[in-house]
Amino acid sequence: MSKKLIFEMSSVGRTGYRFPDLDVPDLPLKDQVNSSLLRESIPVLPEVSEVDIIRHYNGLSKRNFGLDSGFYPLGSCTMKYNPKINEDVGSLPGFTNIHPLQSEDSVQGFLELIFETTKSLSEITGMKWGTLQPFAGAHGEFTGMKLFKAYFKKRDELHRTKVLVPTSAHGTNPASATIAGFHIEEIQADERGLVSVESLKNQLTDDVAGIMLTNPSTLGLFEKDIIEIAGLVHEAGGLLYYDGANMNAIMGKVRPGDMGFDVIHLNLHKTFSTPHGGGGPGAGPVLVSERLVDFLPVPDVKKDGENYFLDYNKADSIGRVSGFYGNMAVLVKAYAYIITMGSDGLKKASEYAVLNANYLKEKLKGTFHLYYDTTCMHEFVLSAKKMKEELGISALDIAKGLLDYGVHPPTIYFPSIVPEAMMIEPTETESKETLDYFVKTMLEIYQKAKDNPEELHEAPRNTPVRRVDEVMAVKQPILKWHAE
Ligand SMILES: Cc1ncc(COP(=O)(O)O)c(C=O)c1O
Repeated sequence: MSKKLIFEMSSVGRTGYRFPDLDVPDLPLKDQVNSSLLRESIPVLPEVSEVDIIRHYNGLSKRNFGLDSGFYPLGSCTMKYNPKINEDVGSLPGFTNIHPLQSEDSVQGFLELIFETTKSLSEITGMKWGTLQPFAGAHGEFTGMKLFKAYFKKRDELHRTKVLVPTSAHGTNPASATIAGFHIEEIQADERGLVSVESLKNQLTDDVAGIMLTNPSTLGLFEKDIIEIAGLVHEAGGLLYYDGANMNAIMGKVRPGDMGFDVIHLNLHKTFSTPHGGGGPGAGPVLVSERLVDFLPVPDVKKDGENYFLDYNKADSIGRVSGFYGNMAVLVKAYAYIITMGSDGLKKASEYAVLNANYLKEKLKGTFHLYYDTTCMHEFVLSAKKMKEELGISALDIAKGLLDYGVHPPTIYFPSIVPEAMMIEPTETESKETLDYFVKTMLEIYQKAKDNPEELHEAPRNTPVRRVDEVMAVKQPILKWHAE
């Protein structure tokens, strides 16, 4: 007797997949597995009743902190509230019960959703078309860099091996470009915290493939010279990559395509209604300008009259970047979010994101040092350098102190060009009351730094786990369910 296994997608075509038939012998387990790998005794597993296990996990969940528990102004991460209704839509059995290997005619609704979402995201970003396959922002970046490579290969310009990245860039940018085979050169910021156009001009040599930017930058600043920058890069034969993880700052206001960018990835799990953290789940769709459309991954979802189909017929495509069509539940939530918000709603979301950040910035800048004192976009960066020098209180102490007030700390020590950085992103979904509570808390922490600094050095005092040694926690994690 033999079992038919779906082993891999060995070849693909307009009509669907072809799977190899594998003959797997039908033998008892002990004859299939090397005896050195078989257990000799029954493993010791915890013996607990249903009620105890429920209490255990419920107790653990209460020790966790999430957006449903409190304010979470984690800069660069857009920890905003996501409407629960979108979770319901993503969980509809019509979506969750379909199989990625079903025939095209039986998943027309899902193909329509991919098609329409790609269309909406192209419109929002000002790009020509895209792919929803990548599973994360960094995966989108990698896909974008592969598109750069394919473009230069087609033009016989493989000597272009350098990608320029600003010092303030998110760490995944240089990492993704490196994995795709490029060398990284840093672009310096000028005294405004923006890309130095003068330095850039000197760096645009023949071997430059392009530039990776996010606008607004991770300092929360809008690159005012972007049109000039795009002109210079294109003139030098390069391409522009836009890290769109910060898209919630500009939706409906300006479009990366209109700024001159050629590729953008979006973090649907930040801007378009998927809660995230702890590594997932996510989606990092990639949208491109006209010059890169031919290189997009296959399959592309196309429409023929009333029918949607998977198009593999792209000679210059970089190929697949995911097993199937992306992280489907995330795509469904993004589509639901886009159509319920509408273009006016998306624009309003960005307006509130920027308004909330500027409100906090203005309230806090008299007490905490604001590194770049200018109108910010969706986030801003304070520095605790002076507090550290004068009061011995670091950004880490402030972050730990916030935990005792039920507030998640901001991102600290990033971007690295700001000493003792605290990067604050309130997002568009927080009320004025919550923002005022944060301001009051930060001012109380400042006062505590003066009156009782020891308490801040010992913070947090009220959390289930006190201050941990974060370096050791990474280097020697304890992963056992009970102590030996
Ligand atoms: C600006 C920026 N770019 C890229 C990324 C990478 O996204 P992901 O974590 O989904 O890979 C992030 C997320 O942390 C980000 O904030």
